[in-house]
Amino acid sequence: MSTQKLPQGVLPDTISLVFGHPDATTLPVDELRVATETVLGSPQACTALQYGSVQGSPALIDYVVDKLNREESLGLTQDNLLIVAGSTHALDMIARQHARCGGTVLVEAPTYHDALRVFRDHDADLHPMAIDENGIIVDELGVQLAALVHEGKSPRLLYTIPTFQNPSGVTITQSRREKIIELSREYGFVIVEDDVYRDLAFEGDVPPSFYGLTGGDTVLRIGSFSKIVAPGLRLGWLIAAPEQIKQYLECGTIQMGGGANPFVAHIMAEYCRSGNLESHVTRLRQVYCSRCNVMLAALERHMPRGVTWTRPRGGFFVWLTLPIGLHVRSLGEASRSQGVHFAPGTGFFAGSGGERNLRLAFSFVPSNEIDRGVRILAQIIREMMPQTD
Ligand SMILES: Cc1ncc(COP(=O)(O)O)c(C=O)c1O
Repeated sequence: MSTQKLPQGVLPDTISLVFGHPDATTLPVDELRVATETVLGSPQACTALQYGSVQGSPALIDYVVDKLNREESLGLTQDNLLIVAGSTHALDMIARQHARCGGTVLVEAPTYHDALRVFRDHDADLHPMAIDENGIIVDELGVQLAALVHEGKSPRLLYTIPTFQNPSGVTITQSRREKIIELSREYGFVIVEDDVYRDLAFEGDVPPSFYGLTGGDTVLRIGSFSKIVAPGLRLGWLIAAPEQIKQYLECGTIQMGGGANPFVAHIMAEYCRSGNLESHVTRLRQVYCSRCNVMLAALERHMPRGVTWTRPRGGFFVWLTLPIGLHVRSLGEASRSQGVHFAPGTGFFAGSGGERNLRLAFSFVPSNEIDRGVRILAQIIREMMPQTD
């Protein structure tokens, strides 16, 4: 069994393929201790412990802007970026500004379940868009947009996780991204690009971001240190046009709190300044690539015919589809009784859907448990399938 520290509520004798958490053994405890001691031992200690700049720690803003410009040639300036308390904080601000009280929001089907929760908090009017192994199906999106406009609705936001999506693991191709941008210009909606898994590519190039393809025009992009360093830091960023950033700076929680988590932001700036982030991300890519390969091999080895799954090239998740006639609810009940947990597909849809789907996270459990968990699931599925002579 895993020696990892389990999240609250997880029994020690279970194999949890539920959590999209980083592997606990990768959390950079020593490096963060050194960075914390450096901050507290420096003349900046009192600045770090005071209310901070509303836009966020300038050193951290500089680091993230330089990183994105270096890696993606985005041409960002400090005015394009706001430090937030995790990307969820940015999504909440975006939903409040653009979608509250019935604003029409397009979301992928499936999409990240907690993003649905944030939009629902603001009473957004959610419309699911179908995806396939190459992301949003653009032709269907076009039809849906025309129908919405026909009904008198004016879509304000399209929320997408374009790279190594949660929960499906799929990535939107560059040509589809370009067509979605054309549609955003035609219909006047803003693309909210949640790219928290972008750095976790196993190999090869990742398609350019929506932000990069548009030059920032009508795109709000959110990023996070949660998946590439540690979720407990509660630090992320929002990238947008300077005038948009100015509007977010007026937001009450940002103003009142003196910027997002200033002390932790100082520590992260020091951690990054010391060159830790690049080597850490390189290691994470190897760890998650190997975990993903173990999961794909286990699925290949154990699953009965008729079960299908995605083959992600980065990120944390595989999305599994059961044969017609099986329901994920029954599988969940049986697998829990055998100690294997997964996220049922139904939670990832704004409308109906997901009854034959499950999300399997390979990020959090050790490789030997992945194989055993998949074997147990496969056995239960086999027993649930109608017998053929
Ligand atoms: C697509 C996506 N966005 C955002 C988050 C949350 O990020 P943060 O911890 O920065 O709020 C997650 C975490 O699972 C996620 O999968």
